Amino acid sequence: MISLGIEGTAEKTGVGIVDDEGNILGMAGKQLFPEKGGIHPRIAAEHHANWIPQLIPQAVEEAGISYDDIDLISFSQGPGLGPALRIVATSARTLALSLNKPIIGVNHCIGHVEIGKLDTGAVNPVSLYVSGGNSQVIAFESGRYRIFGETLDIAIGNCLDHFGRETGLGHPGGPVIEKLAKSGSYIDLPYVVKGMDFSFSGLLSAALREHEKGTAIEDICYSLQETAFAMLVEVTERALSHTQKDEVMLCGGVSANTRLREMLNTMAVEHGAKFYMPQMKLCGDNGVMIAWLGLLMHKQFGPMDIKDTGIIQRFRTDEVDIPWIKNEKS
Ligand code: ATP
Ligand code: FE2
Repeated sequence: MISLGIEGTAEKTGVGIVDDEGNILGMAGKQLFPEKGGIHPRIAAEHHANWIPQLIPQAVEEAGISYDDIDLISFSQGPGLGPALRIVATSARTLALSLNKPIIGVNHCIGHVEIGKLDTGAVNPVSLYVSGGNSQVIAFESGRYRIFGETLDIAIGNCLDHFGRETGLGHPGGPVIEKLAKSGSYIDLPYVVKGMDFSFSGLLSAALREHEKGTAIEDICYSLQETAFAMLVEVTERALSHTQKDEVMLCGGVSANTRLREMLNTMAVEHGAKFYMPQMKLCGDNGVMIAWLGLLMHKQFGPMDIKDTGIIQRFRTDEVDIPWIKNEKS
């Protein structure tokens, strides 16, 4: 069975084609780089509307298949920006109806975890999913992917990007901050973990205040990373202890950061757990993860009725039954 997946929850448009053995047949994507400021939902939607029709034939051509060979159309149903999701859902419906193929909408966050497992061979990990729009610690328990910890306000990627924009480092801020942090030293910034959740907005404000005071940008970048990543690692560590799992997986666009990888890896090793990270092209938003999760969902639940394919803007990771994982422990 061959699935074509369409992704577009935020600023990246992605189309992926996979078969039910997990072979990636085609993959095409286009990132939106806003001229200034953050991501405007309407601009993201226009970007998807412009690129989805171009990326579909590109992925199909790369896969070396014809449209007839596609057995399933998958799309990211949420969570994400409303106008962006609407374009994705409408495109998927149009494609499914015109090709007369079944359709399925899937949860974007679970897509990250499942493609990570497929790519790395991890079986039942505690996952740290960190991106521009999401920051969650996810692990399978009692039939669903549960959120063991999450951000109380903004996502870590958003925190880094916002700092980058306000201080003139450009967008996205994450990679530039990582580079500058290499020559910085530590200054005190607020570390906020409440229960099992983390918060980045106070940290961002404090970092911006340091910038206004004239503190060296390298020192702020270094301390911003150390503080934010330590918060993420602490919550992942507590989820690992609680669930008694023996695998840790990092996914999402912020996985590009080598310091975060190093810190998470160290924590995993200290607990006798294995550390995994998918190839970078599968870490950020992509159509392949949507196509793959579509296949997993379809195998269990069959296709969706077209009337159930509306978007779910605040689609929670723990709303989806996951019957394909049988064991509580790996
Ligand atoms: P989602 O829809 O899952 O929220 P997204 O639209 O934010 O995803 P991703 O590609 O998953 O897209 O992640 C982009 C984020 O990753 C940006 O916030 C960017 O700053 C961050 N990022 C990229 N490279 C690095 C890096 N080297 N260090 C830290 N952050 C990084
Ligand atoms: Fe994502």
